[in-house]
Formats: sequence, C-alpha cells, structure tokens
Amino acid sequence: MGSVWALFNMSGGVGKSTLTQNLGYHLASDYGAKVLLLDFDPQASLTTFMGKSPTSFSETIANSMLDLSLPLPLVDEFEWCTLAPTNIYLAQCEIKLGGVMQKETRLKQVLDKVSGDYDIILIDCPPSLGQLAINCLAAADNLLIPIQTEYKSVEATINLLQMTFEITQQINPHLKVFGVVPTMFDSRVNSHKEAIEMITEVFEKLKANPLFKDTTIFDPVPRGIDFATATRKHLPLGLHRKNHPALEVLSNIAGSINQTIAPKEEAVING
Ligand SMILES: Nc1ncnc2c1ncn2[C@@H]1O[C@H](COP(=O)(O)OP(=O)(O)OP(=O)(O)O)[C@@H](O)[C@H]1O
Ligand SMILES: [Mg+2]
Repeated sequence: MGSVWALFNMSGGVGKSTLTQNLGYHLASDYGAKVLLLDFDPQASLTTFMGKSPTSFSETIANSMLDLSLPLPLVDEFEWCTLAPTNIYLAQCEIKLGGVMQKETRLKQVLDKVSGDYDIILIDCPPSLGQLAINCLAAADNLLIPIQTEYKSVEATINLLQMTFEITQQINPHLKVFGVVPTMFDSRVNSHKEAIEMITEVFEKLKANPLFKDTTIFDPVPRGIDFATATRKHLPLGLHRKNHPALEVLSNIAGSINQTIAPKEEAVING
C-alpha cells in the first residue's frame, strides 16, 4: 500500500500546490518512488501546473467520490508521476457530499482502491476547512504543513492544528503530523526570520502532545522567481533549472518522506 500524504494548510497561496509538484518530482527522480499526485482543490492549480486543462476532463475524482463504483480518472502520460486531475466540479461534489453515507471517508475509500499501485500518494489539498479538507485528513497517513514565512500564515496555522487534533480523535487515529515546511523564505527579510522562530516556538510547545511529538520543522524553501517561471512552463523546478539552489532543500524533504516508505526488496525478503 502506498502511503498517503496531505499537503495542507487552509491559508491560501502558501505554496501547497508548488510543493506537491516539486516533492513529487524529487521523490520520483532522486529516490525512484512511484508517485501519484492527486489534485484535490477545485481551483485545479496542480492540474494546470502539470500542463493539463481542467475543463478538458469530463470525469475526475469528483465522480469517483460520489459513485464509489467508478474508477479514479488518471493521466499517465508523465515520465515521473501519474496525475489524478480535477476541476471546478469538485466544489459541487463538496456540496453533494453532505447527503452521502460516511462523507468524511469517501476520499479514503477511493484511494484505498489504487494505493497498491504507488509508493506514495501526495494530495494537494484545498485552502479551506470544509468537507474536502476533512476528507484529505481522513485519508492521509501523514500531514505535511506548508507555512509561508509570514506572521499571518503562522497565526492561521494554529486553527489547522486544532482541527487536525480533532480529526485524529474522531475519524483518523493513524494520522501523523510529519512535518512543517516554511515556504517563500527570504533570509534578508527580518519578518521571515521571525516567522521561522515563531513556527519553532509553536511546535516546541506542542511536543507534549503525542500528535506533534515527532513533527519535523524542515529547512525553509527559499523564495525565488524561478518557481513561478517553472510553473508557467508546466515543469517542476528541477526540470526547469537543474542547478537551482532550492533543489537541495526540496530533495532533502523528499528524502525524509522516502525514508518512511519500506523498501520493496526488503519487504519481500522479510516477508
Ligand atoms: N518558493 C517560492 N518562491 C516564490 N514563489 C513561490 C514559491 N512557491 C510558490 N510560489 C508562487 O506562489 C504562488 C502560490 O503558490 P501555490 O499555488 O503553490 O500556493 P497554494 O498554497 O497551493 O495556493 P492555494 O491556496 O490557492 O491553493 C504561485 O504563483 C507560485 O508560483
Ligand atoms: Mg494550491
């Protein structure tokens, strides 16, 4: 079974989709992982970042969520990953989910059917605290929280931590808060450095809670214009600028994620 990772923060524009695409790329290219990228945001940024037009899909994850007998629509044309695309219909799906049985675990039920085909599934979550976000946290084994290195983003994240705690109590006791990734960091900006200190303080205080005991605060992803340029070219940064200084940080985070995946050969030998 592939492990399922939610990249989530309900704050908008903090780098969730960019990080999902780039970590997926490094997991595949640096560590040989078989990666499924799941776009679970009705804005469909990840689908667009991968060069696909959201409106070109008549069937998406939204259909699979509402009718569990339908397969998960996939795009398999990329060298380094498979994409489960989405579009605005996922917003309607969120409303329709109100009336279905076990609405919080519909995504988990969809992913359980395909997770055996991948080492890792990265979910690009929507910037909201609604039913779609709850489905992401209910389906995930691990949560990775991108936080923009701004005071506002750090403050907002505190609500997310409360929600995560409630989800582990009520719906998904297996969920681990694996790590925090500070994003868009500029070391010349004092408020960015203060935001990192604040993140460290918040998570240090939370260590007493078992849910946050092993949470890693990763090195920050630097701010750089090349991220947006790569996105416009529908490429991860590593395929746009092979020697970009931010690649080392991204590869290291991917390496930590990869360490949680049991090596296949070993699993066969031991099993
Ligand atoms: N490290 C970075 N440096 C500079 N710009 C970045 C960086 N990471 C992301 N961006 C840019 O910031 C913008 C928002 O990024 P992204 O779409 O990944 O955020 P998001 O959290 O997924 O947003 P939303 O909440 O709307 O889904 C994009 O224009 C992206 O190119
Ligand atoms: Mg996004």
